[in-house]
Parts: sequence; C-alpha cells; structure tokens
Amino acid sequence: MKRFILMILLHAIPFTLAHAAGDPKRGEVLFQRCASCHAVGPYASAGYGPQLNRIVGRRSASTTDYRYSEAMKKSGLVWNEKNLAAFLRAPHDVVPGTSMRFWGIKDEQQVADLLSYLKTL
Ligand code: HEC
Repeated sequence: MKRFILMILLHAIPFTLAHAAGDPKRGEVLFQRCASCHAVGPYASAGYGPQLNRIVGRRSASTTDYRYSEAMKKSGLVWNEKNLAAFLRAPHDVVPGTSMRFWGIKDEQQVADLLSYLKTL
C-alpha cells in the first residue's frame, strides 16, 4: 500500500510542475485573443498593436515601427516574466493609461500557458 501511494506521488509531482510552468501549445491557442492586434513571426510588423517577437526580456515601447502611448513610453519596464504576467492579468494596473484595450486574463494557468508560448517567439 505504501509503495502504491509513493508511486502515485512520484507520478503526480512532475505533472503538477509541468502544469504550473505552462504549456506553449495551449498558449499558442490562447494567443488568438492577442493576434487580432499583435503580429508575430518573421514578417511581423506593427498593426493595431506592436509586434511581439522576442517579447520576453524586451524593453517596453522598444519596437521602432509602432507609435506607443505616452504611458507605455514612460513605463520604463523590461518585459520579464513577472512584469508580463502582471500586465496580462491587468494591463491598466501595470501601465495606467495604456492604449491596449484588453480586460486581462484572470486564469493563472492561462497566463502561464501564454507566457510559455511567448518565450518561443
Ligand atoms: C484590442 C487590441 C489588443 C489586444 C486584443 C491585445 N493587445 Fe497587447 N497591445 C495593444 C496595443 C494598442 C499596445 C500598445 C499599448 C501602448 O502603447 O500603450 C499593446 C501592447 C502590448 C505589449 C507591450 C509591447 C511593447 O513593445 O512594449 C505587450 C507585451 C502586449 N501588448 C501583449 C499582449 C498579449 C499577450 C495579448 C493577448 C493576451 C494582447 N497584448 C492583446 C493592443 C492589444
């Protein structure tokens, strides 16, 4: 019985960790919510919003073909995972006055999935 419980635990732990870390495939599907405004990929350019290639680790308001809001230009953020996660949850709390019209994603797992997808860009 003890061995049985141990076996279950050993199987459950890596799964939980992978789950919390986010799934890029699910993130790619979720990115459809962003794609109406944001382009990604080799030919990406500014659209309604700035392109998001290599966004993880990028400075805020740093693409050259997009006219950012004053709020975004002054935010002085680096889009590390922590800042991105907070921005995706509540864009207007992190950058008050941003022109990104998006309510934010409340589901932690979805935020994690999106982040793991954004890391692949
Ligand atoms: C309705 C259009 C729209 C949607 C949907 C949208 N965004 Fe945006 N996003 C914008 C605009 C516009 C800006 C520029 C904001 C500014 O200048 O204040 C922006 C800015 C950003 C930035 C900062 C980029 C930089 O270069 O500093 C990130 C990161 C971002 N969006 C991620 C996302 C993600 C991820 C999603 C999907 C979950 C998303 N956005 C959904 C319009 C949108």
